Amino acid sequence: MTVQIDHALEEIRRFRPSPEFAANAVADAALYEAAQADRVAFWADQSRDLLHWDKPFTKTLDWTNPPFAKWFEDGELNVAVNCLDRHVEAGNGDRVALHWVGEPGDTRDITYAELTDEVKRAANVLTDLGVGSGDRVAIYLPMIPEAVVSMLAVARIGAIHSVVFGGFSADSLASRIDDAEASLVITADGGYRKGKVFALKPVVDDALTKSVGGSVRNVLVVKRGDNEVEWNAERDLWWHETVATASSEHEAQAFEAEHPLFILYTSGTTGKPKGILHTSGGYLTQAAFTHRNVFDLHPETDVYWCTADVGWITGHSYVVYGPLANGATQVLYEGTPDTPHPGRWWEIVEQYKVSILYTAPTAIRSFMKLGRQIPHAFNLRSLRLLGSVGEPINPEAWIWYRHVIGGGSIPVVDTWWQTETGAIMISALPGVTDLKPGSAQVAVPGISIDILADDGTPVEGEDGGLLVITEPWPSMLRGIWGDPERFKETYWEKFGDKYFAGDGARRDADGDIWLLGRVDDVMNVSGHRLSTAEIESSLVAHPWTAEAAVVGAADETTGQAVVAFVILKASQAAQVTDVAAASEELRRHVAGQIGAIARPRQVFIVNELPKTRSGKIMRRLLRDLAEGREVGDTTTLADTSIMQVISDQVK
Ligand code: PRX
Repeated sequence: MTVQIDHALEEIRRFRPSPEFAANAVADAALYEAAQADRVAFWADQSRDLLHWDKPFTKTLDWTNPPFAKWFEDGELNVAVNCLDRHVEAGNGDRVALHWVGEPGDTRDITYAELTDEVKRAANVLTDLGVGSGDRVAIYLPMIPEAVVSMLAVARIGAIHSVVFGGFSADSLASRIDDAEASLVITADGGYRKGKVFALKPVVDDALTKSVGGSVRNVLVVKRGDNEVEWNAERDLWWHETVATASSEHEAQAFEAEHPLFILYTSGTTGKPKGILHTSGGYLTQAAFTHRNVFDLHPETDVYWCTADVGWITGHSYVVYGPLANGATQVLYEGTPDTPHPGRWWEIVEQYKVSILYTAPTAIRSFMKLGRQIPHAFNLRSLRLLGSVGEPINPEAWIWYRHVIGGGSIPVVDTWWQTETGAIMISALPGVTDLKPGSAQVAVPGISIDILADDGTPVEGEDGGLLVITEPWPSMLRGIWGDPERFKETYWEKFGDKYFAGDGARRDADGDIWLLGRVDDVMNVSGHRLSTAEIESSLVAHPWTAEAAVVGAADETTGQAVVAFVILKASQAAQVTDVAAASEELRRHVAGQIGAIARPRQVFIVNELPKTRSGKIMRRLLRDLAEGREVGDTTTLADTSIMQVISDQVK
């Protein structure tokens, strides 16, 4: 049976918080009032309430040198201690921090006391390996507890982690290692995905032969997949032979609030990913604040589950730093939603009595397609709050999520934010805000959002414009690793001292914000950010390709899908007789170069690309074609008949 995805474009229902929910909610309307009265003092209060500062700060914000903000500048703290030791000291050492579920069905429950010990052991090993404050450590791991331990151990000693999603290729890993000049890589032999072991250590070996920087001294390897790996005795160490036997005595040092915490690479409008830099005190303040208030966290009773991989910002802020700073109990799941059966997630919800679930619209839409009988085979009554992130959630998916997963009465919060913002910026507050399906709704307390026209004037009425953040916020990026100029150009040049997010948005008559998608050459595939330029340069790197253009085409399940148009070199075209095989080869090539997430849905081999008289490719027309629409205005093309030719070829 398939569920009918009925169009809820006319969906105008509003959902009031239930009185019971509102009565017990963590957040209340007073948060907005306090932030409104004095935004900077509001964040200072939140930071003091939510975090432990070894040296209390006396200055809250320094914005004298925009766009370089300093928050809580003279304060000192240790991020890992805030996520671990202080909960143990407060008597919560026996509380489960992680209910880990491996894809093959193995499980581990890890308490705060155990996690603290493990992080201290790992911190000692890192120090023994010569990793010190400010050094970079690349982490390339599956979703296993050691991923969380590694991040926190790096943070504990004041080093900087750069987590690289396990689905990225050796080339992508190598360029990230080189850009950050990492001295250590933490990986696993392999991990489980879709019932099979996928190898990671061999990818690291390959990346290190491709790396040109030569910065890596050691590779620390967790045994997980039991797959065969090659071993370089001078460089490689097993986790179970080092971390497991290390001392769990470790005195943590406090670091300045602006001490760098991590770099996370994300796609921009050029071919080269940007290393987004986050620092300690402000980042942790906003991650903890939003995690507590947007998800209505009651740490003594809730079981929270964010399904994101730690390789993405959602995994950083809402698997590691926010939940652990708040002392939450959470589920960490290694595998895919449909292994070994399509109800796997719902089985986990039932088994661990998950009360808060945070996931992406693309996952919700895949479940919608499979039908409600799959989740309904499990008891989901423990759920009391649902969250969404990564792309706009269409009203029909929102309603399905609330009704089929949430039983029809619990809040759904749609959260807008970015790798760069570090934490949630726009969302309803459950128990406070009336919910509106399809809209991300309002700026969280202490955050200032506006919608501007291209020329910087405020957009009137319900017209769409560009989303900007008008005031600095605690978890804002502090820069692009090694490239302060690119940081200024990308985000601050357009509107002076206002942050340009790259998203289109409109505000409705109630003041609620609706996100309209990216306005630049960034695509959003299954909630993952991909750059058209990066995929184009990968295609062009193939010996057959003369020219390539990539567009993000609307896709019912993944939001957008990568569609490529490729012109083959004349010297090759004669040899390529089987077009289907050629496009398959190019799809495989992109997956190999960047990672499987970037594999184009379709590669069309064409003879021409639509160009303006000045030679600019008109991607808009290609998108029309890829989405099966009537091709738009072609009058600015150098050759107006070209779209007909391309369209005939694509058919
Ligand atoms: O276009 C917006 C979209 O995802 C982009 C940020 O991607 P990334 O840095 O990978 O972070 C994703 C997880 C925070 C944004 O520029 N986006 C994210 N959340 C939403 C969204 N679009 C609409 N609604 C959302 N809730």
